[in-house]
Amino acid sequence: MLDFNFYNPTQIVFGQNRLNELDQLIPQDAKVMIVYGGGSAKRFGTIAKVVEGLGKREVVEFGGVEANPQFETLVKATDLAKSEKVDFLLAVGGGSVMDGTKFIALAMHYEKDAQDILMHGFGGVPATKATDLGCVVTLPATGSESNMGAVITFNEQKYPVMSALTFPKFSFLDPDFTKTLPKEQVANGVADAFVHVVEQYITLPINAKVQDRMSEGILQTLLEVGPVTYNDNEDIEARKNFMWSATTALNGFIGVGVAHDWATHMIGHEMTASYGIAHGRTLAIILPYLLRERKDKKREKLLQYAERVWNLKEGTVDEKIDKAIDKTEEFFNSLDIVTNLTHYGIDDKGIDQIVGNMEKMGLTALSETQDLGLDIVKKILISAK
Ligand code: NZQ
Ligand code: ZN
Repeated sequence: MLDFNFYNPTQIVFGQNRLNELDQLIPQDAKVMIVYGGGSAKRFGTIAKVVEGLGKREVVEFGGVEANPQFETLVKATDLAKSEKVDFLLAVGGGSVMDGTKFIALAMHYEKDAQDILMHGFGGVPATKATDLGCVVTLPATGSESNMGAVITFNEQKYPVMSALTFPKFSFLDPDFTKTLPKEQVANGVADAFVHVVEQYITLPINAKVQDRMSEGILQTLLEVGPVTYNDNEDIEARKNFMWSATTALNGFIGVGVAHDWATHMIGHEMTASYGIAHGRTLAIILPYLLRERKDKKREKLLQYAERVWNLKEGTVDEKIDKAIDKTEEFFNSLDIVTNLTHYGIDDKGIDQIVGNMEKMGLTALSETQDLGLDIVKKILISAK
């Protein structure tokens, strides 16, 4: 296992009907800005419950954060938060709203132009102050409710924004708020969480036994409860387990002391930026083809995945690995996610555009060994046609 520091200060408030506890988690004299998306949180009554939970506090609302949140929208939100002298931000939504709120928290105090926040990649934003924020999760998927990351869209490119100042102070995980999700968003969320785990697990064998077994547990949980949640809106126990899977997949815990391979995410981000395909869906399309292409590099962990996650005990090593990858793709297909590019209108020209954009973004040395270059990205995309 590699050396690591682990820090995650987010308090999780898990369970149904607990929004009255907002009162203890936000200072009494705070002026709160509620940030939400295209309207689902308003339409389905979640915002009204949040406002009630905030009691007598002064509240400002900013709605309209779009899926794949846009820089320009967030600058408007920042201007409002500053002019209203807001001192607490409350995100009510999915990953896009939570990420957008993290950006606002930083931008409210940033000395340089807000655009500079986007320019620091995974190295981290050199910010010294951020407004405190909390989350009420309506879409389990990204893990944004308990991590220090955000992804912001600017000029049709997706930029990672990392800052320890943006860990939410708390996040409410109430499965009831997710019951209004359209089915395809449940599928996207399951795929996103699944791939988050895979990218921290099917890498190099490092003998990190706790992280490996936790990863295997989350993957098996998603295989079990993902389809139940997808098909049955009323199974609250399955939904609770799905929700917690998504948070634990990217709250840092399984990722300490191990190698990471975020190549699927980097390719997926370009597919979202250029073609508007939902985030989780892009990952489900790419992952099986990436694993096939990188079979030799990932051989030991792929075999472990086959044996421990899929319980494949018969056959040669190659047979087990191939079967595990096929089953992974079938799992995504069982959630009605089509896993080929043609279906989404991406042809050879589109593949070249995706590869070209990745080059512009400097995404030229990916994977746990940094040897996945754009030639291999192109090969993966062609195989996914
Ligand atoms: O905007 P509204 O009207 O709220 O509708 C949203 C949106 O259209 C809808 N929705 C959310 N909760 C709902 C609901 N509809 C009905 N009932 C509910 N309870 O779902 C749609 C998608 O929402 P969005 O927040 O965009 O989805 P998701 O949670 O998948 O977030 C995706 C974003 O997160 C980023 C992605 O790049 C993308 O921008 N990511 C953030 C990460 C992080 N911070 O750690 C990591 C991820 O890998 C990812 O890159
Ligand atoms: Zn993701």
